[in-house]
Amino acid sequence: MNNSASVVIIDKEEASKQIIKNYISEIPDIYVDREFSDSFDAYNYIIETRTNIVIVDISEDPDVTFELIYKITSLNKQAKIIVTSYNTDADLVIKSMRTGAREFLTKPLKEEELQNAIIKMRDLSLGNLSDNNKCKIISTFSNKGGIGKTAIAVNLALELANLTKEKVALIDLNLQLGDVTTFLDLNPSFDISYVVNNINRVDETFLLSTLEKYKDTSLYVLADPPYLEQAEDITSDQISKLFDVLKETFSYIIVDTGSNFDGKTITVLDNSDLILLVTTVNLPAIRNCQRCLELFDRLGYSKEKAKIVLNRYMENEEIKTEDVEDVLDRKVYWKIPNNYFTIMSAINKGIPVGMVNPDSNIARNYRDLAAMLSDNIISTKPTQKIKRTSNFSILNLFKSKR
Ligand SMILES: Nc1ncnc2c1ncn2[C@@H]1O[C@H](COP(=O)(O)OP(=O)(O)O)[C@@H](O)[C@H]1O
Ligand SMILES: [Mg+2]
Repeated sequence: MNNSASVVIIDKEEASKQIIKNYISEIPDIYVDREFSDSFDAYNYIIETRTNIVIVDISEDPDVTFELIYKITSLNKQAKIIVTSYNTDADLVIKSMRTGAREFLTKPLKEEELQNAIIKMRDLSLGNLSDNNKCKIISTFSNKGGIGKTAIAVNLALELANLTKEKVALIDLNLQLGDVTTFLDLNPSFDISYVVNNINRVDETFLLSTLEKYKDTSLYVLADPPYLEQAEDITSDQISKLFDVLKETFSYIIVDTGSNFDGKTITVLDNSDLILLVTTVNLPAIRNCQRCLELFDRLGYSKEKAKIVLNRYMENEEIKTEDVEDVLDRKVYWKIPNNYFTIMSAINKGIPVGMVNPDSNIARNYRDLAAMLSDNIISTKPTQKIKRTSNFSILNLFKSKR
């Protein structure tokens, strides 16, 4: 296998360039082809020589650099971009990902972080690593209904597909009251029951023809079964197997769940890389959220695995975000604005919010959330997936100390 890959560094700081070169010199087969201080000078060179990896600093003049990154990734598809910056504003990270950068590293650079990122970019650029290898499973959860789980799962899945152009699966594992198909006005021929009953003959061709492709996007939907008995028949073990096969084909799997804390839901949560724990800013919802976090603790989930999302958020709320954070002893990861009119209009039409009004605050918010969650942001540690033994009993989880 040819593992040789070229790097172009764009950075105004001589010292930074030197550090990057030193770190790269330790990686076999990867060589620094050229250095530039200015992104405009670098542009033609990168396009003409079909550079594999570009490491570009955006500390100064981010907007100009973003434009350039966008052009490079459009014209030289094999170029994989690593952005570096002293500034780690969420906005900058989001913009970088939207323009096509694959990694965002904070300065001062850490040797291992940079080297890992470069190796990953090399493998992506040379096609050694298909994007499927990095499937990320994200589930939306709350032990309360009507809180926005489905709205988030559906809109996030679509925006991830639009943004990354990679294959995204949206799975309705709210097995009793699934409504993903209603949100997207779909009438699929197959459902989860069919797939798990045919699990042994499932491959990419099977999945892409069985899951319902959403319009001309790269989003594929797997609906809940139409009959309750079929839902009952699906086992936790089958759900785990379903994830295993989906991971081979899709880059992202977004799972909508029900509000029941049962064995199947726990299997979904165990299998997730990230759980978006959805709540709203009112006391009963926050109290419920607290209970969920206690249970997550007992299930052995790390803080990185479950992230708090405040839905229907309004400025000037009586309870402040900091109050919520104090009570939950967690940072709020994301806030989604309250926009009943746009959401309802989307749901009633059976289309995503971004198609009803792409400029609305809520459509923009879902897009930004997708950019934030699209894989390559400041290398967070992968969360550990948990395998439970067969004598695991969910009942023990509820034996609280109260
Ligand atoms: N950000 C939001 N702003 C306003 N209303 C919302 C928002 N998110 C959800 N809703 C409302 O809440 C209702 C329930 O949302 P849904 O996603 O079905 O919740 P869940 O899946 O948790 O039961 C939706 O019908 C919609 O009217
Ligand atoms: Mg729902």
